[in-house]
Amino acid sequence: MGRMTDSTPQIPLIDLGDGRAIPQLGFGTYQVPPADTEKVVSDALEAGYRHLDTAQMYGNEDGVGRAIAASGIPRDELWLTTKLNNSFHEPAAARDSAERSLEALGGRIDLFLVHWPLAMHGDVARVWEAMEGIRADFAVDSIGVSNFTPANLARLSDAGLSTPSVNQIESNPYFVNDEVRAACADRGIAVEAWSPLAQGAVFGDPQLTALAEQVDRSVSQVVLRWVLQRGDIVFPKSSSPERMRQNLDVFDFELNDEQMASISALHNGTRSGPDPDTFDWRG
Ligand SMILES: NC(=O)c1ccc[n+]([C@@H]2O[C@H](COP(=O)([O-])OP(=O)(O)OC[C@H]3O[C@@H](n4cnc5c(N)ncnc54)[C@H](OP(=O)(O)O)[C@@H]3O)[C@@H](O)[C@H]2O)c1
Repeated sequence: MGRMTDSTPQIPLIDLGDGRAIPQLGFGTYQVPPADTEKVVSDALEAGYRHLDTAQMYGNEDGVGRAIAASGIPRDELWLTTKLNNSFHEPAAARDSAERSLEALGGRIDLFLVHWPLAMHGDVARVWEAMEGIRADFAVDSIGVSNFTPANLARLSDAGLSTPSVNQIESNPYFVNDEVRAACADRGIAVEAWSPLAQGAVFGDPQLTALAEQVDRSVSQVVLRWVLQRGDIVFPKSSSPERMRQNLDVFDFELNDEQMASISALHNGTRSGPDPDTFDWRG
């Protein structure tokens, strides 16, 4: 089960500038309950996803690891991202937690991210140095950050540290986040767009519904197409195999410039998640 079929769409790869390339479209696992995770992720692999996004904070790494093991898919055909939890920023705790994630996830992590900058609690350069050590010493291929602001990114370069391979940030039609995207582009950092569907808020939007009817696709497909055409990496979450397949089926149509601009114009500054400048949860 779970093998590529002739009908599995070809997913473009994005060059991370660190010698590795990531599938541009993957599957997100935030709010997938631990007890359901093995089944949901198995369904996603069966649907054709080959890039999975989890986090220590989600509490579901074990289920992701079991689904990968059960799938029989060769490990080098998969991309697996997880994230350092907020309570483990101290170097020794970061290393211990990386070892626990590696054990849960079958011994290899493609991309390990600092989940939140927690800049109010210390220096983002310190946790980034710990990440560099983890990449050097463990089976972690690429490292990156999440929810980093332009100031957080500047702190890493000012400290003479390496450039993160990605920054995973909220980006969707209501919160386009173009200021952070531009700072990432300036530094050659790939952008991953989290909550692309605004955690479901895009459904029922009259303008998106009209545009979806115009191009004869679903609202989800139109929004995912907008993210992909902006060049970002994306991993929608769904618990339904039918919606998982629908979200993968976005490589046989294109939005024109006017349609792209009409989606970007929906930006109203409403976030689906916390503001990194004030988020202070150490978890
Ligand atoms: N780094 C961070 O701080 C951070 C924060 C948030 C999220 N993320 C990552 O980004 C991923 C995606 O974001 P998200 O999970 O917050 O939200 P999302 O992908 O924007 O939206 C998920 C919601 O949309 C629904 N949905 C998905 N496809 C659909 C379709 N085709 N038709 C109708 N409804 C559909 C899902 O319902 P059903 O399940 O019922 O289909 C679910 O309620 C996460 O899973 C996680 O991996 C990272």
